[in-house]
Amino acid sequence: MTKFSTALEKWYGLNARDLPWRNTPDPYSIWLSEVILQQTRVAQGMSYYLRFMELFPDVGQLASASEDEILKAWQGLGYYSRARNLHKAAKVIHEDLKGEFPLTAEKLQELPGIGTYTAAAIASIAYNEPVPVVDGNVYRVLSRYFGVATPIDSPAGKKEFADLAAQQLNRKRPGMHNQAIMDFGAIVCTPKMASCETCLLSLDCKAFKGNFVNDLPVKSRKTTVKELWLTYFYLIENGHTYIVRRDAEGIWKGLYDFPNEESNYPPNTEKTLDTFVTDYLATSGITEVVKHDVIHHQLTHRKIHATFISIYTDSKPTNIPEEWLRISCDRITKYGVSRLVEKFLEPF
Ligand code: ADE
Repeated sequence: MTKFSTALEKWYGLNARDLPWRNTPDPYSIWLSEVILQQTRVAQGMSYYLRFMELFPDVGQLASASEDEILKAWQGLGYYSRARNLHKAAKVIHEDLKGEFPLTAEKLQELPGIGTYTAAAIASIAYNEPVPVVDGNVYRVLSRYFGVATPIDSPAGKKEFADLAAQQLNRKRPGMHNQAIMDFGAIVCTPKMASCETCLLSLDCKAFKGNFVNDLPVKSRKTTVKELWLTYFYLIENGHTYIVRRDAEGIWKGLYDFPNEESNYPPNTEKTLDTFVTDYLATSGITEVVKHDVIHHQLTHRKIHATFISIYTDSKPTNIPEEWLRISCDRITKYGVSRLVEKFLEPF
């Protein structure tokens, strides 16, 4: 064992977090926790994990659930393709593999949504297979401790860090080691204000000794963020509203939305509203129109500016597109919606 992995194991022995998915060798629970933790921190992920385990206690029940149910349980985590892939992979395991989880990292990677990271996490934690995980925590910890400034998003950097992670892996206890390095990155070696002063590993940490902890890890590309303007129509007609499932590829696929218009430039809201009314509503029935304050919503690759317009009307739309669903307003909570729509609905 290397000096690094010995020190890390010692730290983990004293500081490991007691998490529900750590008390089980069940690959299903571990898979679920890993997919959730790719989306969020442990503190927020916990309630999602517990809810998923309650709703879908095993892979068969996840496979038999509807996509709507799964997206609803995932609501708020973002990146909904992860939830859809969870469902697809569960079906493969349940239907094609007779409920048997693949037993190696290599085989796990054949499942939808399971890439190098998830496969390594499951195989090391559930089966003790000696494969290193490389996630954001690992890049940060290794780049600092070993003083590596190769950009983590370059092909050379990916290879260098994968090799380093493999070299440092505690091959006797790979599951422990992988969880230790992730916990250490989440608790001590954090992106900002790392706890170097009390860190057990700081004496041998190149970045600490050279005073460049905050310069690592290095990234070469900035993520590009596209702006998007959305105008939403929240129709309220005799206690009912209209929603529509997003079927197009792209953000929020599979989630429910209010009828909306999308553009890549700031829209003329009055005109968008006029067109919507002309296309779908009977003007005589409209009793009130409320234009709400713009909600700004940040996704990884999108900056969204959303204008919600509530339209109260006494009469049904004159022209209801086939894909619109008429539901009682208070049933909206039964449908999976984006965090943005959820934010808008909070005061209602
Ligand atoms: N982040 C993702 N997976 C994790 C795990 N198993 N332990 C701690 N942090 C994690």
